[in-house]
Amino acid sequence: MSEERVQFGIKALDKMLSGGLLPGSANLLEGAPGTGKTTLAIQFVYNGIVQFKEPGLIITFEEFPQQYYHDAMQFGWDLKKLENEGKLKLIFSDPQTTLDEIDKVDGQFVKIIEDLGVKRVVIDSMTHFESLGIDQFDLRDIERRMINALKREGVSSILLRENDNLFGQVSQVSSKIPFIVDSYTLLRYVEIDSAIEKALCILKMRGSDHQKDIRCFRIGSKGIEVEAKFSGREGIMSGNAHLTPQDAFVNVFGKK
Ligand SMILES: Nc1ncnc2c1ncn2[C@@H]1O[C@H](COP(=O)(O)OP(=O)(O)O)[C@@H](O)[C@H]1O
Ligand SMILES: [Mg+2]
Repeated sequence: MSEERVQFGIKALDKMLSGGLLPGSANLLEGAPGTGKTTLAIQFVYNGIVQFKEPGLIITFEEFPQQYYHDAMQFGWDLKKLENEGKLKLIFSDPQTTLDEIDKVDGQFVKIIEDLGVKRVVIDSMTHFESLGIDQFDLRDIERRMINALKREGVSSILLRENDNLFGQVSQVSSKIPFIVDSYTLLRYVEIDSAIEKALCILKMRGSDHQKDIRCFRIGSKGIEVEAKFSGREGIMSGNAHLTPQDAFVNVFGKK
């Protein structure tokens, strides 16, 4: 590989990303509640620290602090320990405070990034900026400022976004964030043979090739595991999974 990449430490996912994320890039990870956004983002930061020696910063508006530490611990990720070792910082904040801070070149966030030598940042989640009661133009301005600030600091970031549609189309909120990020990955529930599975798809990756497969993934005891393609299925990402004509034919008439 000629170019350095920022790896998740999840083999199949890094392979889909042609080796990993681009250094210094801002990456959107979107999905319905419970699809695994927070898990994947923490895994990115955790593996960054323990496998690649890249300190991390997680800014969350999402959950109660103890819950966050507890959930990560279920996968064996001891975030408290990493914080004590000065390799990680978790900030439980609110959107307004974060916004006020992020632009400041001498603010608290920048100080943490510099003091710890942070290379990986997670924002959990961008959707909370929509709660500030602002119009779509202000929202876009906030998103742009946020991404600019992360780029200015040269960190590789994962920005989470809630998608209220459990199945089916990507929601059409006024946010323009998919257009300004460097990569856009979607997590989705899919119904297959009367069971709920999870699918992952990389919709775009600026300045790089990537695999366009729709992959099945699971949340196991060690975090996210990306598995095989959904073979013989169509309509996975539209929420209307059905057999391809070839597989439907085999089902009815059997293999020759
Ligand atoms: N220890 C665990 N083992 C397996 N699956 C888990 C574990 N903890 C949480 N999960 C699964 O992860 C999901 C929540 O993931 P999370 O990353 O919080 O989603 P999101 O941030 O997208 O709302 C839960 O629905 C649950 O199915
Ligand atoms: Mg979450």
